[in-house]
Amino acid sequence: MLNFTFHNPTRIVFGQGTMAALDQHVPLDARVLVLYGGQSAERNGTLGEVRTALGQRTCFEFGGIEPNPTFETLMEAVMLVRAERIDFLLAVGGGSVIDGSKFVAAAAQFEGDPWQILSSVGSAVQRALPLGVVLTLSATGSEMNAAAVVTRRATQTKAFFHSPWVFPQFSILDPTKTYTLPARQLANGVVDAFTHVMEQYLTYPVDARVQDRFAEGLLQTLIEIGPKVVHEPADYDSRANLMWAAAMALNGLIASGVPQDWATHLVGHELTALHGLDHAQTLAVLLPSMLDLRREAKRGKLLQYAERVWHLTEGSEEDRIEQAILKTRAFFERLGIGTRLSDYGIGEQDIDALVAALQAHGMVGLGEQGDVTLALSRQVYLASL
Ligand code: NZQ
Ligand code: ZN
Repeated sequence: MLNFTFHNPTRIVFGQGTMAALDQHVPLDARVLVLYGGQSAERNGTLGEVRTALGQRTCFEFGGIEPNPTFETLMEAVMLVRAERIDFLLAVGGGSVIDGSKFVAAAAQFEGDPWQILSSVGSAVQRALPLGVVLTLSATGSEMNAAAVVTRRATQTKAFFHSPWVFPQFSILDPTKTYTLPARQLANGVVDAFTHVMEQYLTYPVDARVQDRFAEGLLQTLIEIGPKVVHEPADYDSRANLMWAAAMALNGLIASGVPQDWATHLVGHELTALHGLDHAQTLAVLLPSMLDLRREAKRGKLLQYAERVWHLTEGSEEDRIEQAILKTRAFFERLGIGTRLSDYGIGEQDIDALVAALQAHGMVGLGEQGDVTLALSRQVYLASL
């Protein structure tokens, strides 16, 4: 096992009917800004419940944070925070709203150009406003981690930062708040959580048995509940299991003491920035090809994955690896997500621009071994057509 520090200060309040806990966790004298996305939280009553739970506190609201939140929109929220001397942020939404709120929390207290928060990958952050979360979409794990992804619309740059200052102080995880999600977002959530586990698990063995078995448990859970979550009417237990699996997939626990990959995520960012694919769609397209083209470097873990997650024990090593990758793709497709670039209207003529964007963003030596070069990323895009 590699050396590590594990620290996660986010308090989780989990379960049906837990919104009232806001009253305990938001200071009574706070000047609160409630941040949200489009209209979903208003329409399904979640915002109404939040307003009730906040009671007499001085509250302001900022709506319109878009999926893949933009720097441009978030800077408007920063202006509001400064103008109204807001001292507590409450994000009500999915990954985009939470990530956007993390950026606002850091940017509102930042001296200098706030884009430096992203260009320094968070190392320039010295403080941030306190942040709480009401989660409405299980996918990113942002509700329990210190990372955020923000897009600069003007340059089509999708960049990320992380800083211990932006861990949510608390997150309210009520699975019933996800009942109104459309199938596409549910499928996205399963694929995103699944790929988060894979980015931390499917590298090379370091005899980290607890992390490996924890990761395998998360993968098996997602395989079990995924199709039910997407294709059957909402039920509490499968939504609850997805909510907890997605939070545990990216809260630092399974990352402790193991190598991490993240090439699928970073190569995928350009597909969102240039072609508007949902984050999880980029993962469903790229992960199978990434595993396929990097099968030599990932051989040990691919065999372990084949055996322990997909129960493949027959046939040659090559066969088992092949089958495991095929089953991964078939799982994503069963959820209704296209796993080919052509499913999204992207063809060979688009690859040069994607590779150029990777180069411009310095994504030239990715993965747990730093061996995902531009040439390999090009092959991955081509193999994903
Ligand atoms: O905007 P509204 O109207 O609220 O609709 C949203 C949005 O259109 C809708 N939605 C959310 N909760 C709903 C609902 N619709 C009905 N009922 C509900 N209860 O869902 C749509 C997508 O929301 P979004 O927040 O964009 O989805 P997700 O949670 O998948 O977040 C994606 C973003 O997170 C980043 C991604 O890059 C992307 O920008 N990520 C953040 C990570 C992190 N912070 O650790 C890690 C991830 O790998 C990921 O990169
Ligand atoms: Zn992700």
